[in-house]
Amino acid sequence: PAQRRDLKARAAELIKARGAVLVAHYYVDGDLQDLAVETGGCVSDSLEMARFGRDHAAQTLVVAGVRFMGESAKILSPAKRVLMPDLDATCSLDLGCPSDAFNAFCDAHPDRTVVVYANTSAAVKARADWMVTSSCALPIVRHLHAQGRKILWAPDRHLGGYIQRETGADMLMWNGACIVHDEFKGLELELLRREHPGAKILVHPESPQHVVEQADVVGSTAQLLKAVIELDAREFIVATDNGMFHRMRQAAPGKVLIEAPTAGNGATCKSCAHCPWMAMNALQGVIDCLEHGHGEIQVDEPVRTQAEGCIRRMLDFVA
Ligand code: 13P
Ligand code: SF4
Repeated sequence: PAQRRDLKARAAELIKARGAVLVAHYYVDGDLQDLAVETGGCVSDSLEMARFGRDHAAQTLVVAGVRFMGESAKILSPAKRVLMPDLDATCSLDLGCPSDAFNAFCDAHPDRTVVVYANTSAAVKARADWMVTSSCALPIVRHLHAQGRKILWAPDRHLGGYIQRETGADMLMWNGACIVHDEFKGLELELLRREHPGAKILVHPESPQHVVEQADVVGSTAQLLKAVIELDAREFIVATDNGMFHRMRQAAPGKVLIEAPTAGNGATCKSCAHCPWMAMNALQGVIDCLEHGHGEIQVDEPVRTQAEGCIRRMLDFVA
């Protein structure tokens, strides 16, 4: 703990000295989340991270999260320096949707409006008409469906399936999944709910259908946090990455938070619901990127300008 305190103080010093701001996701290490809050940065979901980085005056953004979050920041703010504590921090959805195959999929269906989830590479976004995050996917697809558009959706099949069931839109889907949320088990959740009859069930929509169907609230990480604070219940069963519990406990100290099951036979694997790529973000990485300029995000200009359109369309829609 003393060493972590020293690292945190050093990172805070460097953030100030370099005129930088730390933009963190709820799944990263708790010390990094606290550091972001304490130094005037933000900790939030991927929509708010993109908005905050774009609007902040700092010319250096340190993005603690996974690669697509750093890329989105750079796409929206090309003149800013965007650094990440570890450039190898990626996402199974991004890895599972390579741009060549994705372009071929789009070429085969030219009549469809291309909607991609934020968790994709800049090259995939460059081909899309719209980008969405889990917090705004539903109203945006509802809007497109009302205009009579047919949709090509990528890459998360669970989020896509949820949106399709809710909106009735015609959606042709890529077959991707988040390796963390895909592990939540519907049957075991049913059993756990019986043990906690008063608990509210909060679910991130990257989870499988049987889990989503049991939810009281389905939403992005920021929306799930809001639900814990606002809902009138003592117990919550939460199906999302367990990095989220740090902020939930701080924001709602009197509430009991229970991890949704990720393993069969009622056995919850405590470390299963944690993204290995989010876990690569560390205080030392923040220090290294600010001290030595490690981990700078670069996006080729033609790709960046192409990708910018779909992100801006989303931000204008939610504004
Ligand atoms: P949110 O936009 O809900 O924060 O989701 C990002 C993510 O990667 C969830 O796994
Ligand atoms: Fe990607 Fe899942 Fe990790 Fe989120 S939790 S970054 S969707 S692998």
